[in-house]
Amino acid sequence: MIPRNTLSAWPGVLEFYREYMSWLPAGAQIVTLQEGKTPLIPAPRLVAEAGGGFELYLKYEAVNPTASFKDRGMTAAMTQALARGSKLVICASTGNTSASAAAYAGRAGLRCAVLLPHGKIALGKLAQARMYGAEIIALRGNFDDALRLVRELGTRPGVEVVNSINPVRIEGQKTGAFEICDVLGRAPDFHFLPVGNAGNITAYWRGFREYHQHGITTSLPRMCGFQAAGSAPIVEGRPILDPQTIATAIRIGNPASWSGATTAVEESQGLIESVTDDEILHAYGLIARLEGLFVEPACAAPVAGLLRMARKGLIPKGSLVTLTLTGHGLKDPDTAMDQTKVDAKVLDPHVDAILESLGF
Ligand code: F0G
Repeated sequence: MIPRNTLSAWPGVLEFYREYMSWLPAGAQIVTLQEGKTPLIPAPRLVAEAGGGFELYLKYEAVNPTASFKDRGMTAAMTQALARGSKLVICASTGNTSASAAAYAGRAGLRCAVLLPHGKIALGKLAQARMYGAEIIALRGNFDDALRLVRELGTRPGVEVVNSINPVRIEGQKTGAFEICDVLGRAPDFHFLPVGNAGNITAYWRGFREYHQHGITTSLPRMCGFQAAGSAPIVEGRPILDPQTIATAIRIGNPASWSGATTAVEESQGLIESVTDDEILHAYGLIARLEGLFVEPACAAPVAGLLRMARKGLIPKGSLVTLTLTGHGLKDPDTAMDQTKVDAKVLDPHVDAILESLGF
């Protein structure tokens, strides 16, 4: 039996991994919602779908406090903003960063403004930013326009930018890689994740490398990042002026951490490729039906990429593969409803009617 006292209090990622947070001022008041310690869930049915022969674990970041991986970086950014006495925190966002910033700013008692591409934010994310009390600015433009403006606004005194161009965001997010290694007792052979602004692939690679440098792990994974075909600047080697994809979270044409992503791929002998919206939507359904995990469309990009690579024989037999599922499916109910046009059967409340309808 597992002793019940393993249900001990979790302090959040900064406190738990404090020795890897050299930037964190001693005595700083940590702004946390106890993010992190997310499940690493085996996915045998997806492996079978991909043809078998390897092990797959899904890092389910949807169960963070605001239902995405952004909370790992936001605890760091908001802790720093508070320590510096910032008056206003701002970010550009495709939705999740704004939800997370709004929540952590509320907790820290800081004013928060979010710049969003008008009409391109999934419903749940917008509801979150509104509920947590952010000041919402909807721009006639895309994420890249918003980020350009945020960089400019960030030069004003008292303004703290909490996008991943703020280096402590990456520091917080590297804890995802630490947790994977801590749970598995080793580094995976491959790590898969979606790529948008490219902060997370940069952060995971830093995390895997730091554990390796400290001798906690003895190997490094190959980093495999996936962009959506209509928003694949890194794959195409040029900024995309009008990025398009159903996966609005990664609808980004000029990623801020472009060089971080290419360094991760080069150093790890990994890859960044693109998958089409059709591949994304197919994988989106599979993750939910085969593994019981409801994620937002962006998370399906690396799953689609893994399926393709496995079928091409590019995942050697016996490999240990991990994949980050970055955000919750409930954030984007519109896409879920559009993809599942199954009408409920409306019946009179009788057992016979139900059995007949089920053909059981
Ligand atoms: N998955 C989800 C669910 C995201 O929200 C994002 C980015 C990514 C993947 C890509 O991560 O940018 O580090 O490469 N969302 C940002 C936002 C851009 O504003 O919420 P990345």
